[in-house]
Amino acid sequence: MTDTKKSGAKKSGAKKIAIYPGSFDPLTNGHVDVIERALEIFDEVIVAVLHNPSKKSLFTSEERVEMIKDSMNGFKPVQVDTFDGLLVEYARMKNAVAVIRGMRAISDFENEFQMALMNRKLNKDVQSVFLMTGLRWIFTSSSIIKEAAQFGGDISDMVPTPVKLKLMEKFPKLNC
Ligand code: PNS
Repeated sequence: MTDTKKSGAKKSGAKKIAIYPGSFDPLTNGHVDVIERALEIFDEVIVAVLHNPSKKSLFTSEERVEMIKDSMNGFKPVQVDTFDGLLVEYARMKNAVAVIRGMRAISDFENEFQMALMNRKLNKDVQSVFLMTGLRWIFTSSSIIKEAAQFGGDISDMVPTPVKLKLMEKFPKLNC
């Protein structure tokens, strides 16, 4: 039996926690779809917003956390948090057994594959789990939504309402 299998068996009776990490700048309906799918497998999902002040973002990490919390409406199995440093260290601290990543198209694969292998090298006890977003969200990304929103494009069916309201504050041209 490998070490990974041993540790999996050891944890089998415990609550299964997964981390869903990302920039979430901002949260989209595609992300929400992934969270819902993850909850079919795991008991608890921690949505972990990367706090990286050197990375340019539209929303601060506090704003991103607030939007996610508002969108999740206090739904118990979903926790929202920020993290910095190594993701696998954060996962270890939270006793998580898996890291969730959403997969939209083949173009996502190479980067995700590289990241998953590095994460496994750094912590073999945390598994990477890739979930396909619903077909409806295949073209949805935070960047494309920001791009459309800044020029007034209607993105109202691509983000939860609390995110739409925050985008409207940032981009006065946006009138959904
Ligand atoms: O939404 P994103 O920007 O694609 O999320 C990327 C994220 C936050 C998952 C990734 O950058 C990350 O895990 N950063 C923390 C540092 C780390 O552990 N990197 C992976 C090993 S190199």
